[in-house]
Amino acid sequence: MKKRFIVIEGGDGTGKSTQIKLMAEYLREKGFEVIITREPGGVTTAEKIREIILNEEIDPVTEALLFASARREHLKKKVIPALSKGQIVLCDRFVYSSLAYQGYARGLGIENVYKINEPAIEGMMPGLTILLELSPEKGIERINSNRTDEVNRLDLEGLDFHNKVRDGYSKVVEMYPENKYVKIDASQSIEDVFEDIKKAIDNMKL
Ligand code: TYD
Repeated sequence: MKKRFIVIEGGDGTGKSTQIKLMAEYLREKGFEVIITREPGGVTTAEKIREIILNEEIDPVTEALLFASARREHLKKKVIPALSKGQIVLCDRFVYSSLAYQGYARGLGIENVYKINEPAIEGMMPGLTILLELSPEKGIERINSNRTDEVNRLDLEGLDFHNKVRDGYSKVVEMYPENKYVKIDASQSIEDVFEDIKKAIDNMKL
């Protein structure tokens, strides 16, 4: 477990990218060196893998394996080097995304997908996972009203799938309680969500 490795998770439209920027500002003001990243994070090998995942119709197991491969490349080439310089790494999504999306929502099994990811992460679990919780209806509403980036294959899944993602996340955090997490009500205002996140970060004694 790496204390300075902080991950933000949640379904689509929960506001992860807005909150991660606020977190970075807050921690930089405190004097920490911070990087914001997300898989594939500008690592070219991981980006190429990601292109296949998002644009091709692929078998669910292949999808899980490819996410794990992209994850490892990003971890080895970007996350670990930053942590070893003492920087705080704020990462938008990590292995719990695979457990919730591929493991639970796609039905591969949370434990099976964890097994696929074990060799990819070799115990590099975050010091804190922040789970933003929001009803999929609201998430989809936000995506449709704020969307500036392109819509990918996974964004086009139906409400049923997004409900499963939400339930999957709840199960996952409880299945691995040795990994610290906080659940935050993402239906609140941006400011109130961030207040809750700040409390969690302050408790970490970074
Ligand atoms: P991402 O590019 O992070 O987009 P978003 O802005 O929606 O967070 O992720 C794209 C999609 O990939 C998103 O629907 C979540 C999904 N995903 C998985 O299914 N498994 C994974 O392991 C990861 C990291 C993402």
